[in-house]
Parts: sequence; C-alpha cells; structure tokens
Amino acid sequence: MSEQTAYGGATTVPPKKITVPDVVAMKRDRKRITMMTAYDAAFAKLVDQAGIDVILVGDSLGMVVLGYPTTVPVTMDDMVRHAAAVSRGAIRPLLVGDMPFGTYQAGPQDALRNAARFLKEAGMDAVKLEGGHEVVETVRALVDSGIAVMGHVGLTPQRVAQFGGFKVQAKTARAARRLIEDCLALEDAGAFSIVLESVPAPVAALASERLGIPTIGIGAGVDCDGQVLVLHDVLGLFGEFKPKFAKRYADIGTAVVEALREYDRDVRAGTFPDDEHSFTMKESELVSLQRSLTQKAG
Ligand code: KIV
Repeated sequence: MSEQTAYGGATTVPPKKITVPDVVAMKRDRKRITMMTAYDAAFAKLVDQAGIDVILVGDSLGMVVLGYPTTVPVTMDDMVRHAAAVSRGAIRPLLVGDMPFGTYQAGPQDALRNAARFLKEAGMDAVKLEGGHEVVETVRALVDSGIAVMGHVGLTPQRVAQFGGFKVQAKTARAARRLIEDCLALEDAGAFSIVLESVPAPVAALASERLGIPTIGIGAGVDCDGQVLVLHDVLGLFGEFKPKFAKRYADIGTAVVEALREYDRDVRAGTFPDDEHSFTMKESELVSLQRSLTQKAG
C-alpha cells in the first residue's frame, strides 16, 4: 500500500532512518556518502526529500543565517534551537550537530555536557567537533559516554584567526603528514567519520585510503568517501563570498529577489490582493452591518 510522505511524495515503504553504522558501512561497500548542511525544518525536509544521507547542522549557521563574519560567535543555544528545528523536518538522514567554538575546547566534561544537549534537546544522532590531536581525549570521552562523534580537520573555521583567513591547509609534506596522523588518532579515539576541509586532493586521497572510517570532503577532492557542502552556497543564497570548492547548483537568491520585486510592484499598484486572495461575506450580513453603522453614526 502506498502512503503519503510528510513532503507529499508517495512511497510504498516508510523511509528507513540512516544510522551511524550505516554510514560507516557505506565506505566498506564503496558507496559514496552525501552530506548537506541545513538549519531549519523547511530546508531539512527538502534535503531529506532529495535523498541526502547526512544532514549537518553546521556552525556555518553563524555566517549564512545569523549574519556573523565567522562561526566564532555562534552559541550552544543557537545550535540547539536550529538543530531541533532540523530534526522536526527530517526523517531519514543521519543528523549531526556541530559543536560551536568554546563548547568543547575546555575539556571532556564541558564537551560532554554540551554534546548531550544536542541529543537530548535537539534530536541529533551525533556531534561534530573540529581539531586533531588536541581533541582526541575529548573525542574518546564522548564516544565512551555513548555519543557518536564526527571529526573535522584541515581548514577548521573556528581557528580562522590563527590561519589568517580561509586558506587551504596541509600543503607541505610535513603538514600533510600531521593531518593524516590527526585522522588516525581521531579514528583510534572512536570517531565514526572525519570531515576534511580545504586540503589538497592527493592528501585527502591518502588519508581516505589509510582510514577504516569514512572521510567527508569539502574542498578535498573526489577521492573522499563522501562530500559535504553548505546549503546556502549550493542554492545561491549566500553572496558574501564564494569558496572555490563551493559549486552553485541553483540561483534561488535571484529567484527570491525577482519574486519579492513583483510583490512590491503589485502592492504599490493595488493589484494585490485580488479577489482570488481575499475573503468575502454574505451580502445580507454586509447590508446589516452597514445599516447598523449608519444608525450608530446618526
Ligand atoms: O559548519 C559547517 O557547515 C561545516 C561544514 C563546512 C563541514 O563545518
């Protein structure tokens, strides 16, 4: 029997929720993993409908939704509110909440308290945090407490000030070796996958080859086990700057401006709302209303 999905498409079987082991198994089965960011219920529903495997509620929220110049000002409360909205919109994808700056760097206790909020208050399945060797102890503590962790190395935007901008990382043999060692240390600590951001494609390929867990690339070439992009870059909804790796698949921003210009013109011209978008009442009720208003005025 076919039934209606939350987003209107007919399906014969309710979608099976993707789990952490499913994502790990995709590497073993040589199936590429798709991941996309989302920050609210409406877009999460659309990302789900498109068949994406993993939704990352990224702290890129700060830049593409909240209007900050970097991800640094984003708070745990910001993330929990948006992550909860995403989990109300998405059914099938694995949901990963991104730990914002200052919520895990102080150590495992702090990290555990904040990561637990993603699971308890926002319905996330896993968390992501940035860093290599310096966060290994924290990753191990979270995993030991039952929280699935995705790592993130290479260009880690929370350190953008230290990097001197959004720059490609691991370009020397020494830095690339360090990145691969970071990945292996994260895997050893129990991370179930690792985002590789803005690193040369051959470095990402070597890291992916050496790891048993999947790598998810963003600006890291085609040999990663999966790919992630920021939704607003993909849809043309963020115009502040465009990273080289961000492919724009649609220009929704221009469509939005055109639609709003038309609305603006209609309102100013008095052609909106028309009869189709207005409510009416029984003629007898209107006559009675007008009469009572006239009597009151008299
Ligand atoms: O915050 C984010 O959107 C991310 C992705 C760029 C991986 O961390």
